[in-house]
Amino acid sequence: MRTVRTVRELREALAPHRRAGRSIGLVPTMGALHEGHLSLVRRARADCEVVVVSLFVNPTQFGPSEDFASYPRDEARDRTLAEAERVDVLFAPPPEEVYPEGFDTTVTVGGLTQVLDGHPERRGPGHFAGVTTVVTKLFNMVAPDVAYFGQKDAQQALVVRKLVRDLDIPVRIEVCPIVRDPDGLALSSRNAYLSPAERGRALALSRALRAAEEAVAGGAVDAGAVLAVAREKLDEAGIEPDYLELRSASHLSGVDRVNGPTLLAVAARVGGARLIDNVVLGEGVDEREPSPAGRSDES
Ligand code: PAJ
Repeated sequence: MRTVRTVRELREALAPHRRAGRSIGLVPTMGALHEGHLSLVRRARADCEVVVVSLFVNPTQFGPSEDFASYPRDEARDRTLAEAERVDVLFAPPPEEVYPEGFDTTVTVGGLTQVLDGHPERRGPGHFAGVTTVVTKLFNMVAPDVAYFGQKDAQQALVVRKLVRDLDIPVRIEVCPIVRDPDGLALSSRNAYLSPAERGRALALSRALRAAEEAVAGGAVDAGAVLAVAREKLDEAGIEPDYLELRSASHLSGVDRVNGPTLLAVAARVGGARLIDNVVLGEGVDEREPSPAGRSDES
């Protein structure tokens, strides 16, 4: 595995592969790699001939009161993990390589970025502007055939899909499932901020999502009812969410019924960590529409 720090070195490392027509997969990360990140790397390794992982804690996506300074950083550990997954190129630029003196361009995606985490009273649309600006730069730097994102950040994945569609960026976006610890907690670099007791309370997030999923499987469709079931699990743990919302899984528009793929997204502060999690409900709801009288094909 080669570790490169400049765009020039990166392009030099990739040029022979590109000339040989090899497929290039990119996994953008902010490091502090865990099994969630590694699931994307494995998927890239299975799909592509050349795998690039970027490791960059992007300052522009953190708000002034957020955890940029304390965000976990351990490049040596990340390098060992990436190497073990047979990553070809680790791109770990210093901030001035990505944002040199005089840098003054922002890429913003309209729609999708004003709700959930983009709501002005939460991380705000500026968070997503930071993400889409750095992701656009990474796509231009690496020029991958495929880029891998996690469903853990469901809104980010939708925003990135819209970015490449709206700007005709020639990259295929693959979104991979959420990786969880056996007890249900979604893996996140920010879980490192949790004390053992807080980690226990944090389980209420995935428990809330699971309860909602069970309610929908049991026939609940009304948004209020589904949200109430989830809310109860958060209440039991004394967690007041930043948001707990049902939105269409494709456009993030508000819904009052689970009628087709619907994202149930939650964000909450637990101790010093702001955690997010989600589940897509109602994926099979269409098939569950009342069947014609006399037909009984349910087993
Ligand atoms: P980061 O939080 O490091 O996440 C990198 C990628 O790993 C994202 O696509 C994220 O959705 C995915 N990921 C994180 N936890 C996961 C889990 N438990 N299961 C599956 N995938 C998971 O997201 C970012 O970095 C940044 O915003 C970035 C896209 C790199 C731009 O700076």
